[in-house]
Amino acid sequence: MTRVLAINGSASMEKGNTQKMLTAFLEGMKEAHAKVETVYAKRLKIRPCTGSFHCWYTKVGECIHSDDMDSLLPKLREADVLILATPVFLPLPSGIQNFLNRLMPIIEPVLEFREGRTHAKFHDNVKISKIVLISVGGWWEIGNFDKVVRIAEDVAKGVDVEFSGAILRPHASLMNENKEKGEAVLRATKSAGFQLVREGKISSDTLETISQPLISEIEFRERYNKMYQTAKESSS
Ligand SMILES: Cc1cc2nc3c(=O)[nH]c(=O)nc-3n(C[C@H](O)[C@H](O)[C@H](O)COP(=O)(O)O)c2cc1C
Repeated sequence: MTRVLAINGSASMEKGNTQKMLTAFLEGMKEAHAKVETVYAKRLKIRPCTGSFHCWYTKVGECIHSDDMDSLLPKLREADVLILATPVFLPLPSGIQNFLNRLMPIIEPVLEFREGRTHAKFHDNVKISKIVLISVGGWWEIGNFDKVVRIAEDVAKGVDVEFSGAILRPHASLMNENKEKGEAVLRATKSAGFQLVREGKISSDTLETISQPLISEIEFRERYNKMYQTAKESSS
């Protein structure tokens, strides 16, 4: 059975668009008989990484801090798939950034230089073999996710684990308004979760359906500029 651990980095936690996309993806994974668990980064009481490399070069695998990460590290070791679910937040909300830095104790610093970059790996007792990104953004364009995709890909490459794809939903808040397209997006997201567990990968057609435009760029811009204008008038 595939075990899945999802970290939701959204400040809105259960109420946000990140959760909406994550829920659909996890439903698909469950339908394919995966065991899933979600952890909310904002709820974790974890201190920032000190950067002292204590867990690498003083006490191998042991963090200098004792906090909520103590109970999360065993779950991370047991998971086959790690989902990073986050909004684009210039580039990441602080909770998930903090979480990523605190992964150091499960990384073994046996460094290799390949394909122009330094690779480490997870310790042998860590089962994670795939990392997936689910990200939502407020802006219209898909290119706006580049920085977040790059971070997730880099996390995967840095520990020599497969990056199994990026589920990207631009202008995510409009999913509620355009019911038909919004539902098509969620169906495709569910199918992506199913595909990942059953087939080990997500088809490019499914990813395209998930990221499809819900309105035109001009409509989007006009709508948001109008909203700001109204707010400005009522605040003056
Ligand atoms: C501080 C901050 C920075 C943001 N930066 C971006 C951005 O660079 N690109 C983007 O598309 N959306 C950006 N957004 C919009 C969020 O990604 C969007 O509102 C998203 O739906 C929030 O996720 P949630 O619904 O799970 O809370 C930003 C929002 C905030 C508050």
